[in-house]
Amino acid sequence: MTQIKPKRRSQAWFGKQDRDGFVYRSWMKKDGYPADEFDGRPVIGICNTWSELTPCNSHFRELAEFVKRGVYEAGGLPLEFPVMSLGETQLRPTAMLFRNLASMDVEESIRGNPIDGVVLLMGCDKTTPALLMGAASCGLPTIGVSGGPMLNGKFRGQDSGSGTGVWMMSEMVRAGEMTQEEFSDAESCMNRSKGHCNTMGTASTMASMVEALGMSLPENAAIPASDTRRHRLAQLSGRRIVQMVEENLTMDQIVTREAFENAVRVNAAIGGSTNAVVHLLAIAGRMEIKLNLKDFDDLGSHLPCLVNLQPSGRFLMEDFYYAGGLPAVLREIAHVLHVDALTVNGKSLGENIAQAPCYNRDVIMEFGHPFKEQAGIAVLTGNLAPDGAVIKPSAATPALLQHRGRAVVFENIEELHARIDDDTLDVDENCVMVLKGCGPRGYPGMAEVGNMPLPKKVLEKGITDMVRISDARMSGTAYGTVVLHTSPEASVGGPLALVQSGDMIELDVAGRRLHLEVSDEELARRKAAWVPPPPLKRGYAKLYVEHVQQAHLGADLDFLVGRSGADVPRESH
Ligand code: FES
Repeated sequence: MTQIKPKRRSQAWFGKQDRDGFVYRSWMKKDGYPADEFDGRPVIGICNTWSELTPCNSHFRELAEFVKRGVYEAGGLPLEFPVMSLGETQLRPTAMLFRNLASMDVEESIRGNPIDGVVLLMGCDKTTPALLMGAASCGLPTIGVSGGPMLNGKFRGQDSGSGTGVWMMSEMVRAGEMTQEEFSDAESCMNRSKGHCNTMGTASTMASMVEALGMSLPENAAIPASDTRRHRLAQLSGRRIVQMVEENLTMDQIVTREAFENAVRVNAAIGGSTNAVVHLLAIAGRMEIKLNLKDFDDLGSHLPCLVNLQPSGRFLMEDFYYAGGLPAVLREIAHVLHVDALTVNGKSLGENIAQAPCYNRDVIMEFGHPFKEQAGIAVLTGNLAPDGAVIKPSAATPALLQHRGRAVVFENIEELHARIDDDTLDVDENCVMVLKGCGPRGYPGMAEVGNMPLPKKVLEKGITDMVRISDARMSGTAYGTVVLHTSPEASVGGPLALVQSGDMIELDVAGRRLHLEVSDEELARRKAAWVPPPPLKRGYAKLYVEHVQQAHLGADLDFLVGRSGADVPRESH
């Protein structure tokens, strides 16, 4: 008995023989498509975050051509479409403000168009979670293709990592250890090829999360953007998405609770960015999968970091790829992973990594002889962070992980900038720097300013780290003993808003505690006198501030959590 194939989604547009079908096909035919392109073959949307204002994604038109090759080879029709692109280095006040907006663009662009399956082209930090969130809310067959990291930066004979090098060199300039001329020279040496940041920052972390979730073909995380094997991966992904449509292999069959548990564990093993926490929570929210902040501690904090990559270590993503890339890490930690988890190529994670080799043990270490022990993200709670805060121990100074110090408070980022180099600032290396007003609502957008620069008078003593606490995020390329994502944030009246300079704060990472040594009575008195910030008047920022959730929930907009599917029964004319 012949099996009747389900009608493709795109045929609700192109398969109609009436006036509406004429309209849907005719305007597409003006670009030269023959009639048989609309005969029911899989229509593949290529969701492209190309932009010259997103330098990390500026090679994506080229990458899309390789995806198209693959789609055509497999018998599909590729149709590329642009979505809002988020350039981490250019967008003010912070690209994170627009992650949720871009995800809406992705979701509605997919849902509203005649598409059967989607290829997501993503690279720079926020483009990856934005595309995954939008695609998750639609639920079509979906495959991710990352843009790939830049080649190693090279400055005066040394490797120089994107982001990490900037933070290091700018502190050296302030400490008088590097001239302004040398600093300027480094600009064109650190970032010297196409691709995203070459450290294990947020972009590389999120590309690793895509692979760990099973949402890309193996090796997606690390192939450099300039390596032609990135083109091959794009072409093979184009072929594969056509098969996924034919198999009706949808995103919800791949991105399960088990897949998230794998991703959290992999984030620990790669010394990944703290930003993965808010992004994975937000993606899980779209998938209607229960994942919470505590899961990151429970599942990952006891695991070792196996990769010696900046910002926690020495090497860069190019070295990581040559050493075996993410498959080598996955194989090394296979015993703590759900190896039966399905991936986009139709095989299990375990099948994909069964033979994964490691070629360089200086870069990817063995589970039994790791780069750093117990390196996963630690989740702190206490009266200063009732809903939680995070710290990345692998990027911190071990001696500061247990610390008690006097608070030096900055009410907002402007005050920090104005006072940090002031000789009269009452601060020393034992103090705890506290920054308010940088959370989801406060900045708005939860900017990457949590790795505050150290006061000049402290830097001049040769000190390179202090305990810093804020409701902000931190660049994935940054490092230090930095407590982030303090929730609830100061701008909604969380306890962080009540800290005053001179209060004593205790950080106890082993005990998972962040404690403000101020009595409940005094905190209640301060809370009664607290004045909330004035409301915003208009625009997207107003919508965002009125609806954004707190960091421990993933900072998504409350009305975007969940899925609406891909069905749109009404015609457009
Ligand atoms: Fe785009 Fe770092 S600035 S990935």
